[in-house]
Amino acid sequence: MRRAKITGTGMYVPDRVVTNADLTQFMDTSDEWIVQRSGIRERRWIEPGQAPSDLARAACQQALEAASLEVSDVDCILLATLSSEHDFPGTSFFLHEKLGAGEIPCLDLRAQCSGFLYALSFADALVVSGKYRRVLVVGCEVHSTGLDISTRGRDVAVLFGDGAGAVVVEANDDPEDPSGLLELRLHAQGRHADKLWIEAPSSASSPVRLTHEMIDDGRVFPKMEGRFVFKHAVRRMPEVLHEALSAASIKLDDVGLFLFHQANLRINEFVANQLGIPPDKLFNNIERYGNCSAASIPMLLAECARNGRLQPGQIVCLTAFGSGFTWASAVVRW
Ligand code: COA
Repeated sequence: MRRAKITGTGMYVPDRVVTNADLTQFMDTSDEWIVQRSGIRERRWIEPGQAPSDLARAACQQALEAASLEVSDVDCILLATLSSEHDFPGTSFFLHEKLGAGEIPCLDLRAQCSGFLYALSFADALVVSGKYRRVLVVGCEVHSTGLDISTRGRDVAVLFGDGAGAVVVEANDDPEDPSGLLELRLHAQGRHADKLWIEAPSSASSPVRLTHEMIDDGRVFPKMEGRFVFKHAVRRMPEVLHEALSAASIKLDDVGLFLFHQANLRINEFVANQLGIPPDKLFNNIERYGNCSAASIPMLLAECARNGRLQPGQIVCLTAFGSGFTWASAVVRW
């Protein structure tokens, strides 16, 4: 039976490091508050002139190189983001041009912090069905240009960073090679859409999508009910993780590495404790990059591929929760 397999990973973050101490220039906050509540010490912000598609391109080029492929070998590009370069067309089209992707199809997926796992799931379906052999799956975010970095927005602004991660998903038809995506489970609950969102601009706002008043009121910045989101994340992540493992007939103890979306170190430690996951099976990088939404999981994969944490044959479990609400989990044999 054909499986879809990740054959290359890549990541890119801008050079500009913004520490918690740097944020105190803009808002009333402290390194102590941020580290204690979220585990974040620094994040990356783009420099003027850099676009989301530049970050995505660098991550994709690394992933293609790791898979020993050229962009001309790829059949389709799926890009997950919540911070689109323009309202339309999607970021994937700007990436498409920068990669020189000819005339292959591309599209943006909007499932926020679970976006990469949603995109991976669709890539899996496209490959397993035989529609495509190779799909480039990208998570890419530039949050820094959309944050309220005054004290008014400090609860959200300190959490987010810019970055991109990418993987190549390829068909694996080798009966001797058991590696591949074993199970992917996706969920959503639109009821809580406004618990973590950006209200404006909005095409539901008539007669115009964006007004001076919306800007003055800060409705163009992300808003979050932090405690509400936290409560749902720590319930949904274990739930979907168990669901995916059980569908793949894999025991929790047989998982070699757990990679969770990097929203908050406290959420990940809480979930790991709840499940009895030993700390050495959990890898986090939020301390250095903050929450990069759809880019977080492919960035973790790229770092683990490079630091030797991902070994052939190892079972890896990827789990995310985010705005929408969305939550998802994938079980992968590396
Ligand atoms: N620096 C200093 N103080 C801050 C601050 C900051 N950056 N942000 C908020 N505060 C203050 C608040 O104003 C509040 O002050 P008050 O008690 O005088 O009113 C106090 O700190 C506590 O705020 P609160 O929002 O209740 O903190 P919290 O313990 O809930 O932690 C989060 C806030 C955001 C870290 C936490 O709720 C969280 O992690 N939520 C989930 C986030 C998440 O996962 N989001 C993404 C999902 S993809």
